[in-house]
Amino acid sequence: MHDLQHLATIERIKDTTNRTNFLRLDMNESPEGLPQEFIENIKKDITASFLATYPNDEPFLQTLARFLNVSRENLCATNGSDMAIRYCFELFGREGSTFVSVYPTFEMYAVYCNIFRLKHHKILYRDDLTIDTHAILQSITDDVSIVALLNPNNPIGNVYSENEVEIIIKKAKDIGAIVIIDEAYYGFAPQGFLPFALEHENVIVIRTFSKLFALASLRLGFVCAHPKIIAFFQKIMPTFEVNALALLFGQRLLENHAIIESLQQTQQQGRKTLIQLLQQAHYDYQIMFGNYLFIRPHSDVATLVQKLKEQNILIKTYRHAILKDMIRVTTGSPKTMQHFFNIFHQIDNQTTRNH
Ligand SMILES: Cc1ncc(COP(=O)(O)O)c(C=O)c1O
Repeated sequence: MHDLQHLATIERIKDTTNRTNFLRLDMNESPEGLPQEFIENIKKDITASFLATYPNDEPFLQTLARFLNVSRENLCATNGSDMAIRYCFELFGREGSTFVSVYPTFEMYAVYCNIFRLKHHKILYRDDLTIDTHAILQSITDDVSIVALLNPNNPIGNVYSENEVEIIIKKAKDIGAIVIIDEAYYGFAPQGFLPFALEHENVIVIRTFSKLFALASLRLGFVCAHPKIIAFFQKIMPTFEVNALALLFGQRLLENHAIIESLQQTQQQGRKTLIQLLQQAHYDYQIMFGNYLFIRPHSDVATLVQKLKEQNILIKTYRHAILKDMIRVTTGSPKTMQHFFNIFHQIDNQTTRNH
């Protein structure tokens, strides 16, 4: 049999919890989702004929091009942005070459390094949770094929300045590497870097409809890059990469600016509410960008996670030394944040007292 030894070290954690009835603050989905009325309206278009027809991504892509103010030729839609990342590795991740990213970061990057046999050069976070951009630059040497800049990064929401991104792109270009700018959390960051993808042939910006746009179930993402790069993506993608429901919901949402604005505002207000509550109760927390933040509870993290789960609330923890005494919480509306905080604070106080 073909040697699959390189897959042995890949760690995939499959959570079998049925998450439907939980307040899900563990995966940076939108806790509230889209307005029901918007969904009901779209349902009218889901006819027998619609379901019987193979998807056509053209109307979605044209709407997206107008929304982003880019050319249609700069875009392709993918089955979630996760798939876009995979295609970047398939296309540009030379076997035996090096992939550069900060660490910790979104876990699929490490998985694709293993699958496509790239070495992962990890730029470790400093203890104060800042990134050494100079170290990223230094690590871009001849053996590098892909550099990933997550703006903001997940799980720690640091962002890059325009100047930092530009210098990294130039250095990568000099040695023939591509730069993935992962903007999964676009809309929760001060700025996006789409213009770099239009300007430089070695830059690929990827975004998703899973976070701000609250459509994680449908698996819709996209790539914005030079038309030459998009043509490569099209060569390796299945005939129908994205399903018709995802394309329909995506298009309708792009046409509804009021909902997008409201999703953003709700998020900002919810973050303010949570910060105030944390400050009043003297909690140490780390908030940067993205729809998530870290809180350092007073009690034991593992016990807290379990007790929150018993109260139907899911949150995320990390094993990395710099994050291990903290919990990561997805942020949502003020009401959701108040509800989370009341239960979190009560459990945390009780558990601390019992020790
Ligand atoms: C930084 C980052 N990129 C990409 C993804 C993939 O998102 P999706 O496949 O839902 O588009 C995630 C998901 O959490 C993420 O955090």
